[in-house]
Amino acid sequence: MTQLKQMSHLDISPPTPGKFKMDKSPYIHRLRGHGSLAKLTFWSFVFLGLILIFFFHSPSPNSLPSDPFRRSLRTYNWGGPAWEKRVRSSAKVRSRHGISVLVTGAAGFVGTHVSAALKRRGDGVLGLDCFNDYYDPSLKRARQALLERSGVFIVEGDINDAPLLSKLFEVVAFTHVMHLAAQAGVRYAMENPGSYVHSNIAGLVNLLEVCKNANPQPAIVWASSSSVYGLNTKVPFSERDRTDQPASLYAATKKAGEEIAHTYNHIYGLSLTGLRFFTVYGPWGRPDMAYFFFTRDILKGKTIPIFEGANHGTVARDFTYIDDIVKGCLASLDTAEKSTGSGGKKKGPAQLRVFNLGNTSPVPVTDLVTILERLLKVKAKRNIMKLPRNGDVQFTHANISSAQRELGYKPTTDLQTGLKKFVRWYLSYYSGGKKASG
Ligand SMILES: NC(=O)c1ccc[n+]([C@@H]2O[C@H](COP(=O)([O-])OP(=O)(O)OC[C@H]3O[C@@H](n4cnc5c(N)ncnc54)[C@H](O)[C@@H]3O)[C@@H](O)[C@H]2O)c1
Repeated sequence: MTQLKQMSHLDISPPTPGKFKMDKSPYIHRLRGHGSLAKLTFWSFVFLGLILIFFFHSPSPNSLPSDPFRRSLRTYNWGGPAWEKRVRSSAKVRSRHGISVLVTGAAGFVGTHVSAALKRRGDGVLGLDCFNDYYDPSLKRARQALLERSGVFIVEGDINDAPLLSKLFEVVAFTHVMHLAAQAGVRYAMENPGSYVHSNIAGLVNLLEVCKNANPQPAIVWASSSSVYGLNTKVPFSERDRTDQPASLYAATKKAGEEIAHTYNHIYGLSLTGLRFFTVYGPWGRPDMAYFFFTRDILKGKTIPIFEGANHGTVARDFTYIDDIVKGCLASLDTAEKSTGSGGKKKGPAQLRVFNLGNTSPVPVTDLVTILERLLKVKAKRNIMKLPRNGDVQFTHANISSAQRELGYKPTTDLQTGLKKFVRWYLSYYSGGKKASG
């Protein structure tokens, strides 16, 4: 991965001044012995050259010290009056009762839609995203261009970058944080487990640390996942069901996030709302998700793997259309109570919530393929396979009564209608000269 390559490049630490002196002394000693002016001049140049190399390889003021997590941070350019002006302008509230929201993961699938919806209603929105290459970054850039046109600026940076986050809160007194940045995907966790710890655990803690110190503290709404239900077999999944049997590292990091949220709410009075999304799909979606790569592969005439459970059991998902998820996110922000702490100290009990945001009607994956075949007018080459034990669960099914009651959440888009919109977007996006990667 290009990002990993860049990381290893950044890992090369600059020589410390102490080390430098140690290297220098034997040379000087030898020079004294020879007493030759020419050699002294030569070694002076070498010495000067080394000093220059040292300075050119020194980290910039905005880069971070290296520790096990931060070592993998890329260096981003941020800061300066022009940059601050863009930040302020993007986060400016333009409606009477508007809120100012920092949206992390804004170049992601859900983040783009949520940012656009907030901006449309006059809220102040500032995006933050590291544009990693977990999937085709050009799709993230295209989403960024889309947001740019509606006045949303996405700051390039990592949620682990404490100086950057603190700076953002210094420039804008955000009332809310919509935290969507994460390492998503269930299977990739076996390939790159560190990226899940980096973004979903270390990054979350860093963000909460900065939020806890902010004055005023913002209210935080963040994305957990339906995957926390793991091996739970009781359906439909209710927020009260057990979530202590994650089936993937991704799920385990989201579950850890829920516990971390509890801690920051308990100790520092941060208002926190966790949203357990159920398989979100729609235009500008994620290429690593089945509905997306099935579409790509059906069009290419490639065979698609369709999983089945034990004893030919159906694999089904509670597919939830992006517009319904956006409504749930906005309702969560609007009903979030203020955080109660200040100066990093709790002043009273604060709100702590968890909601399922699903669609309440699981659809077998075979039906998903049939709908896609009809919309694409191409017959899929199906390869029925046993569901591998690498993180995916056999079905998901949301009980949304709590979100219905407290957020007025009511999904309205069925899979047929939602996929029709997705396919229309897919065909227009990729016919414009862009190719689906992979
Ligand atoms: N899409 C779904 O079906 C689904 C289901 C359950 C939960 N979720 C959660 O919802 C959130 C949004 O998901 P999505 O589908 O939009 O995913 P996405 O991958 O499209 O978006 C996440 C964005 O976060 C960014 N990011 C990752 N690590 C970062 C870091 N350390 N610093 C800054 N930016 C970082 C990525 O570049 C990406 O643009 C995630 O938290 C995800 O785990 C999504």
